[in-house]
Amino acid sequence: MDLIQLLFLTALSILSIPFLLINSLLRPRSKKKHTVYTAPGAWPLIGHLAFYDDVKTTHVAFGEMADKYGPVFMAKLGSHNVLIISSQEVAKECYTVHDKFLDRPGLTASTLLGYNDTFMTFIPYGAYWRDMRKITTSEVLSASVMETFKFRRAREADVAFRDLYKRWDQKGRPKNGVLVDMKREFQYLTANISLMMVAGKRYFGESPNCDTGEATRCGKLIREFIDYFGLLLFSDAIPALGFMDWVIKRGMKRTAKGLDKVVESWVEEHKNKDFGGGSEKDFMILIMEIFKTDKERVVEESDIKDLVYIQAIIKETFRLYPSVPLVAYRTVMEDFDIVNGNYHIPAGTQLLVNAWKIGRDPNLWSDPEKFEPERFLTSNKDVDFGGQNYKLIAFGLGRRTCPAIHLGLRVVHYILARFLHSFDVARPSSQEVDMTQTNGMVNLKTTPLEVIVTPRLHETLYTADRTA
Ligand code: HEM
Repeated sequence: MDLIQLLFLTALSILSIPFLLINSLLRPRSKKKHTVYTAPGAWPLIGHLAFYDDVKTTHVAFGEMADKYGPVFMAKLGSHNVLIISSQEVAKECYTVHDKFLDRPGLTASTLLGYNDTFMTFIPYGAYWRDMRKITTSEVLSASVMETFKFRRAREADVAFRDLYKRWDQKGRPKNGVLVDMKREFQYLTANISLMMVAGKRYFGESPNCDTGEATRCGKLIREFIDYFGLLLFSDAIPALGFMDWVIKRGMKRTAKGLDKVVESWVEEHKNKDFGGGSEKDFMILIMEIFKTDKERVVEESDIKDLVYIQAIIKETFRLYPSVPLVAYRTVMEDFDIVNGNYHIPAGTQLLVNAWKIGRDPNLWSDPEKFEPERFLTSNKDVDFGGQNYKLIAFGLGRRTCPAIHLGLRVVHYILARFLHSFDVARPSSQEVDMTQTNGMVNLKTTPLEVIVTPRLHETLYTADRTA
């Protein structure tokens, strides 16, 4: 299989870092040193899976258990013992001192959808992972490559926001704006940015750059792929009952086959394309002449470094709503002790860090439930993603931390800044925004994000065309 296919599917698969959910209780105040306290109530065979329901998200359930049993406890997910960590200190210890003993566990989705366990995200350590990680960071996610692709990201923002502008225009340009679902718009825009960078494709939204049949078909396959990685399967939790997954497994194989064909066709198209023209650059220069300052131009990625409040908003959002609330899924390869040797963690244990809980820990954050971006301009101004303080861990921990942190942050900063600069935004009613979250590996807002948008820049800034 082609390297481009592997790299692409690796990027896709991150959106679905499988997160098994479990529980265990370790009482830190326990007199029994070296014994991890396991949460009571585990059923034979299925363990704490019996407690799973759709009402409460798993990270919230784990958070409540941490309040009861302490910041480090053990749960049983099917046949696996899983250590749940809700303490920044213990997470830091595990992913620095003991990181060498941690690896990724095997997953059915990785085998069936990931070309027999060859996606970088899910494969265990070894020469193959090292090579993939090296190629990814130096060739795909390097600063210079990211810089090269900024025009494509800008072009996708052009398309998305022009579509929004058109909707307002077609409604007769109402002074009070037009109602849109920004959850869907942001999802489509980020998906298109990823697809554009990888394959030059735009599949989501109203302006696909290929025939709409292809866009619908491929968009559906990509959504299925992501959804499958979010499922908790018997095959992973209780291997003895793995046969019950046969329908899902059949679906996974079908999706894998479909996606394989799609990626193959991209690779073919790529091979036949002439990239020597430099037309993007010319176009960019043209656009830059139109965009002057403030309201006379749109936000560019180069503005982000000066947009400190936007940066603070993003940090505050990831603190309260990390996209992957239970991060750093790992298997312990060799025994080790934690918390000054007080707790013994045997090989075979699985490990999850509750980033959501750490983001709301009153010992780390004042008024933790309050959305207050200003904290990152004052009391927490030195706290950053990927920093050494382990307070903001939305991109993971240790050696397996997200290699695309800079790209991910660039995209979210750029999209948010550009959106807020391009439109006046209002709530359709005085009701608070519903922040209910979906359960699963990636934490989405359950309901649409309905807002009223009104363009605030000059018309030419929505209609200028970088899309050729
Ligand atoms: C805002 C966007 C993103 C967030 C919040 C995010 C978050 C994460 C998290 C929490 C992990 C697990 C880290 C761990 O196990 O400790 C991860 C791993 C990973 N991410 Fe990201 N990610 C984002 C964007 C991306 C993008 C755009 C790509 C690809 C272009 C990507 C590629 C990967 C890969 C390949 C891994 C696995 C690394 C390994 O196992 O060595 N991520 N990400």
